[in-house]
Amino acid sequence: MSGFDVIVLGAGAAGLFCAATAGQRGRRVLVLDHNSEVGRKILISGGGRCNFTNLHTAPDRFLSVNPHFAKSALARYSPRDFLALVEAHQIAWHEKTLGQLFCDGSARQVVDLLLAECAKGAVEFRLGQAAGPIEHRDGQFHLAGACAPALVIATGGPSIPKLGASGLAYDLARQFGLKVVEPRPALVPLTLGGDDVLFRELSGVAAPVEARAGKTKFREAALFTHRGLSGPAILQVSSYWKRGDEVGINFLPDAAQGWLLAAKRTQPRKAMRAVLGEPLPDRLALALAERLGLAGDLGNMSDKALASAEARLADWRFRPNGSEGFAKAEVTAGGISTAELSSQSMEARKVPGLYAIGEAVDVTGWLGGYNFQWAWASARAAGMAL
Ligand code: FDA
Repeated sequence: MSGFDVIVLGAGAAGLFCAATAGQRGRRVLVLDHNSEVGRKILISGGGRCNFTNLHTAPDRFLSVNPHFAKSALARYSPRDFLALVEAHQIAWHEKTLGQLFCDGSARQVVDLLLAECAKGAVEFRLGQAAGPIEHRDGQFHLAGACAPALVIATGGPSIPKLGASGLAYDLARQFGLKVVEPRPALVPLTLGGDDVLFRELSGVAAPVEARAGKTKFREAALFTHRGLSGPAILQVSSYWKRGDEVGINFLPDAAQGWLLAAKRTQPRKAMRAVLGEPLPDRLALALAERLGLAGDLGNMSDKALASAEARLADWRFRPNGSEGFAKAEVTAGGISTAELSSQSMEARKVPGLYAIGEAVDVTGWLGGYNFQWAWASARAAGMAL
């Protein structure tokens, strides 16, 4: 039985950064993962370029039963702090859009950064090995032939099981008597059925829209797929969407009030399809004109019909019949309840020495680098406390 100060379970973004932080503070750290390769989600993230943080990180860009929980860790480790580390490792980066920072080269550079930081802290690894049963006795956590007075749960959530994702974090939480907020797929494509099924014919068509779930709105691209709706705007609202809810789409978020009546006056001989085809892709324009039942020229349509068409285009209601689930979800919302953890250290209040960080915890970021920033910030908070 080999003894350590800390065992970190999970060699993903949060686990590696926590291990490096604790190791560099002189702790003897062991990282365990059942995958034989570390950071598999990092490697495929951001289309292979890793959107490693977002400059606009703020607590209101995270979902949690307790929206205040993430504030402390996020304030103590900011996007600029991680960026400084990226630059210290001479990784070239760029801002793509909306504060999203990506590597110019490859996501592999972020994994190499984390491994180099772990090496500085003399972190040991056991990869390709299941954790097996975990026992807590005499103030020590015993697992996989090792023991330590501190155990960090950094095994993420169950989204994308083929990458090695599992629900181990929740099993451990239950084993140690910690509450779990029901996990659900987030940042996930939504599926359409019923009357909306006709929109699936538009598979491959994308448009810049404003999508809405409840009161939360996102202005980004939406994409029609053979199963329903995707694209950044839809992934964003999916985190707020609940089964049975509608999703509203404003297909023309830049149009001025009364634009369709104005178009009737200036272009009475123009067909609705052609008017919509100016700002929107042709196939989408045709589908919307058909579903509005307004196929002819604007001049032949009543003002009332045009006013109601304008209102509908600004808030087109879809009622998704589900989502593509954990198999396709970029993250898992829900997880180990923040009520069980210290927001300063991520340590479980009831079980001294047990910590939970990253996606395993009920803190879920928007699309765009926010989830990695939470992984870094929560890992840092735990690493500094260990
Ligand atoms: P993470 O999932 O990274 O790591 C968990 C580790 O635990 C894994 O190594 C896993 O093998 C291990 N593990 C799990 N179960 C285990 C078990 N039973 N026994 C032993 N080990 C176990 N975010 C972002 O901010 N920017 C981006 O560009 C992207 N892009 C992106 C693309 C895709 C396709 C996905 C699926 C996700 C993203 N994300 C993202 C989200 C981001 O990848 C995610 O939020 C972080 O990786 C979470 O970090 P964690 O370390 O908490 O979990």
